[in-house]
Amino acid sequence: MAVAVSSVAVASSAHADLTGPPGTSLKAAAERSGRYFGAAMGGDRLNDQGFLTIANREFDMMTAVNEMKPDATEPNRGQFDFRAGDAIYNWATQHGMRVRGHTLAWHAQQPRFWGSLSGGALRTAMIDHINGVMSHYRGKLYAWDVVNEAFAENGSRRQSNLQATGNDWIEAAFRAARAADPSVKLCYNDYNIENWTYAKTQGVYNMIRDFKSRGVPIDCVGLQTHFTGGSSLPSNFPTTLSSFAALGVDVALTEADVTNASATQYAGLTQACANVPRCVGITTWGIRDSDSWRGSENPLLFDRNSNPKPAYTSVLNALNAASTSVPGTSTPPSTPVSTPPSIPPVSGSPGACTATYRLTNSWGGGFQGEVTVANNGSSTLHGWTVRLTLAGGQTIANVWNGVATGTSGTVSVRNADYNGSLGANASTSFGFLVNGSTTTAPGGLTCTSS
Ligand code: G3I
Repeated sequence: MAVAVSSVAVASSAHADLTGPPGTSLKAAAERSGRYFGAAMGGDRLNDQGFLTIANREFDMMTAVNEMKPDATEPNRGQFDFRAGDAIYNWATQHGMRVRGHTLAWHAQQPRFWGSLSGGALRTAMIDHINGVMSHYRGKLYAWDVVNEAFAENGSRRQSNLQATGNDWIEAAFRAARAADPSVKLCYNDYNIENWTYAKTQGVYNMIRDFKSRGVPIDCVGLQTHFTGGSSLPSNFPTTLSSFAALGVDVALTEADVTNASATQYAGLTQACANVPRCVGITTWGIRDSDSWRGSENPLLFDRNSNPKPAYTSVLNALNAASTSVPGTSTPPSTPVSTPPSIPPVSGSPGACTATYRLTNSWGGGFQGEVTVANNGSSTLHGWTVRLTLAGGQTIANVWNGVATGTSGTVSVRNADYNGSLGANASTSFGFLVNGSTTTAPGGLTCTSS
């Protein structure tokens, strides 16, 4: 059963100001440099006042521990259940936090019905799952861990039923994710990728580099940062973060916890993030030791009585000492910005526009298309509307860079607020996602300008 999420707007991060007073909470200290400080919570914590009090005071990003995973959100094929995920989303956003979505495609915690599928059928089920879940949360989340833990320790792909559908399963997931919600950051998330010289780190790095070079949509890498006795903070962690960031992606520490909450290691991992401009934030996997999946190791920042531990102070101090702020979050300069020139009146009749369609991606249950709208006239257009007719059985699930009327048969798409103005010989495009068993191109394309 699908339950609507609340309409509470996604909170945005505060402006960075490295010269401001030190923050006295984790979130305030992180926000000084345009970063966030997050935690993971299970649905059972919604009734735990001790947890909620600290969450509200210290954190400005939330991740659901299990409630947005594939087995939770699509227990039976095509039957989505967002109740548990929405409960966490609603509480977090009602308390001014943003939400990271975790996760869409993973070898673990899969819906039971994926277990009886393979090959193209499993690939289709994965894409359908991504479309279904991302449509529900469209425009509401900060980021999605699109794919989780897909590499083995030796740097090759982890063997799994998803990997067996073909080596391109990860990029297929990312392409589908971009189409389903163009507004959310798309992350690859994994553990044991903190040590720069480790084979698994290099495997993930090479995949991200390949994706960026081929235009596969990806915005961020999540380093889970589970430091155990056997794999503690590596001295080259800063190199790992800056190397990933240099590929043109954000990096984030997504599930941090450290054996016995070593204050030195917590300070080190925080400093590493705070010194890399594109390291956007840190999330701990729980808040108190009693919340942890590694509870016997007491790996979190608060003890079982909700008291901050020495590691808390070390993290707070490292956040307040950040040497870089996240690009685009600095306080705007105080110099006045000149008023842009007003748009000159349209002279003569508006030029004619044309609409050209191309297929950009397809899979078993649907496809993604793009229409280029071009102004072939000699004067500026101030609006356009494209009409197109879908083949039988095709339904539009999502449109971006345009506003659609209708979802099947003849559909019209007009410009969005920001791309209606087209100078002479200029062009723009909108994209759309179609569900249906064929990739038959839409027919009867017309473009009307105003
Ligand atoms: O809800 C059932 C309960 O009804 C049943 O009685 C009980 C019996 O074992 O199991 C309960 O489900 C457990 C679930 O957590 C909720 O507590 C599952 O067995 C257990 O496997 C599951 O563990 C989760 C684990 O992911 C599964 O892989 C942990 O809570 C969760 O913290 C952990 O999170 C992962 C991240 O997603 C990815 N990175 C590693 C991280 C830690 O393992």
